[in-house]
Amino acid sequence: MTLIIDGKKLSNDIKNELLEKTTELIETTGVVPGLVVLQLGEDPASSVYVNSKQKTCKELGYHSIVHRIPAESSEEEVLSLVEKWNNDSTIHGILVQLPLPKHIDEQKVITTIDPNKDVDGFHPHNVGKLVIGLKGPIPCTPYGIVEMLKRYNIETSGKHTVVVGRSNIVGKPIANIMYQKKEYANSIVTICHSASKNISEFTKQADILIVAVGVPNLIKKEDIKEGVVIIDVGINRIDADNEKGYKIVGDVDYDDVFEKCSAITPVPGGVGRMTIAMLMQNTYNSAYEASKTI
Ligand code: GUN
Repeated sequence: MTLIIDGKKLSNDIKNELLEKTTELIETTGVVPGLVVLQLGEDPASSVYVNSKQKTCKELGYHSIVHRIPAESSEEEVLSLVEKWNNDSTIHGILVQLPLPKHIDEQKVITTIDPNKDVDGFHPHNVGKLVIGLKGPIPCTPYGIVEMLKRYNIETSGKHTVVVGRSNIVGKPIANIMYQKKEYANSIVTICHSASKNISEFTKQADILIVAVGVPNLIKKEDIKEGVVIIDVGINRIDADNEKGYKIVGDVDYDDVFEKCSAITPVPGGVGRMTIAMLMQNTYNSAYEASKTI
């Protein structure tokens, strides 16, 4: 029997836990977790994510700002907004929705965010902490994956984790987490990417397979071994013969691999759901740390 790792349920559990902790934080310290999201332009997919972040903030009683500016805005304007929020004590998390337009230096923007307010965990200071195993914000999607593995009690120690994809947002951080000498990790890790000539050669060796490349239905049953745990990070829109004219699929061909794997995250209803819950967790954590200094 294949286990379906239910991101919808887990993310609701996490949000309920956060609602309780937030209520307590507000009652005991007066600190209301505050998150600002900056979106440049009106890319529809980004707008869906940003709106959903705002809705979740409201549900949890967070102070939430969504700041939208035109895609043509200057780098200077973005940096000055970030600096303003760095100095605003009602804001504990700053998220600049990526990707940014080409005329803006993404790394410069990320590096300008106060590392204590970096709820994405993308600042080089926090990336460094993650690599050497120090406490700090974990990028939200990898954090969501870790929580899924933990809460479903999936054994990772001594197992071979294969990560497909090397993005700064998912592939690199999750690979760096999975080999840490920690109870939910301690794996042997392989990373494959676009220069891997035959990824199947690697994916077939995986006990835990994490795929984050944005290629619909890339992984088929011939690419995996019997009993693998599959974490599918892909969220791809493909044409479909239904009312909407499209459907959302992962990077793994779910129906094809289902019988062969021991556990799998569905798309939708898997990792995507967890990302926002973990953003809320990181924002709570920042607010909690800030509450200790007042
Ligand atoms: N764009 C896609 N995923 C993310 C994310 O996790 N954080 C930010 N800031 N932008 C994204």
